[in-house]
Amino acid sequence: MRDFVPAICRDLPRVSELRLPLLSGETPVIHLSRLASRLGRSDLWLKNDAATGKLCGGGKVRKLEFLLGAARSRQASEIVTFGGVGSNHAVATCLYARSIGMNVRLFLSPHPLSAGGIAMTNLQVSHACGARISIVTYPHRVLRERGWQVAGRVRRDGTTVSIPSGGSSPVGCIGYAAAAFELCAQIARGQVPRPATIFVPVGSGGVLAGLHAGFAILESPIELVGVRIARTCATARVVANLSARTMRALGFTAPPASVHPRALPTMRVMSGFYGVGYARPTPASRHAVQLLEETEGIQLENTYTGKAMAAALEYQGRKRGRRGPILFWNTANGVDLRRHLPISDSEHGDHDCGGLPPRIRSRLRRWIHPLHG
Ligand SMILES: Cc1ncc(COP(=O)(O)O)c(C=O)c1O
Repeated sequence: MRDFVPAICRDLPRVSELRLPLLSGETPVIHLSRLASRLGRSDLWLKNDAATGKLCGGGKVRKLEFLLGAARSRQASEIVTFGGVGSNHAVATCLYARSIGMNVRLFLSPHPLSAGGIAMTNLQVSHACGARISIVTYPHRVLRERGWQVAGRVRRDGTTVSIPSGGSSPVGCIGYAAAAFELCAQIARGQVPRPATIFVPVGSGGVLAGLHAGFAILESPIELVGVRIARTCATARVVANLSARTMRALGFTAPPASVHPRALPTMRVMSGFYGVGYARPTPASRHAVQLLEETEGIQLENTYTGKAMAAALEYQGRKRGRRGPILFWNTANGVDLRRHLPISDSEHGDHDCGGLPPRIRSRLRRWIHPLHG
């Protein structure tokens, strides 16, 4: 939908110049009435970013509107980016960069992945998009904080643009500042009550930082809770810093000196829900995924949104969680990416990693295990 004009572009016209339109439109806000009544309350809501874009959905599309917009304005022909193998950010970058004629170079670090699972599909699709993929053994934290060092071998001729892991630069985070404007517009139209608390997953911290920046600019005193989904994820300090840099990228001082602190959002980062580690489900995340599916027919996944939802479910049962509406922000992709695979690869079925070249298969051999739950 080329005509969709995000709320932030009406309020801050300069943002339009930075943006490459990728979003299909505003994403829906859903009243989780069946889940709420099961839990003995009425005010649980979900903002569903599952179908943000056509090629793939999820939160990454919001960031890519600005990341690829900035790359295009620099006349880039190649994007270099980083992540774990099967990264949602990596596959979204491949799909949307290819749609505007840019090449992608990926540096991915291994982690356990299931044959036939989401991460494997992401990797297969990234490859099918023509990305040049290097499997590197740097810890994920190094890729996140110093990816440019890993990419040092890449020739830099001014047409290559580097995007950090998770797409969480201040420019990428503008996508979630824009999402805060979008939600406020929906609140103003009466589509959803103003949430007292919003829950999001925290990986590289960009979703939380962008929302925090957006609500600060809008002077919306919402409590934002980020749930770290692994020990290596962004800390509260990292997120606060990213939020301040995002505000500055939008031309605002952070924190805004003229605004009373009570008119500003607050931010907390929780560390008690990641369990053993990245992409390893916990009993609480499995329960949360199952409960959402059972009551609302909404599909979450176990790596990010299941863990964050588990935290939201625990919080809603506390006294503090009864202070007002709770909104869960679903950042997971809801588009089946297997449709981007050549038929011959997608036919391999659940227990294969079809389409990947032997070079990548052999580097990942000891990380791949069969799909279970
Ligand atoms: C589905 C999903 N949700 C949430 C996040 C977390 O976003 P961020 O890295 O901006 O914290 C990610 C990051 O990869 C993701 O893939």
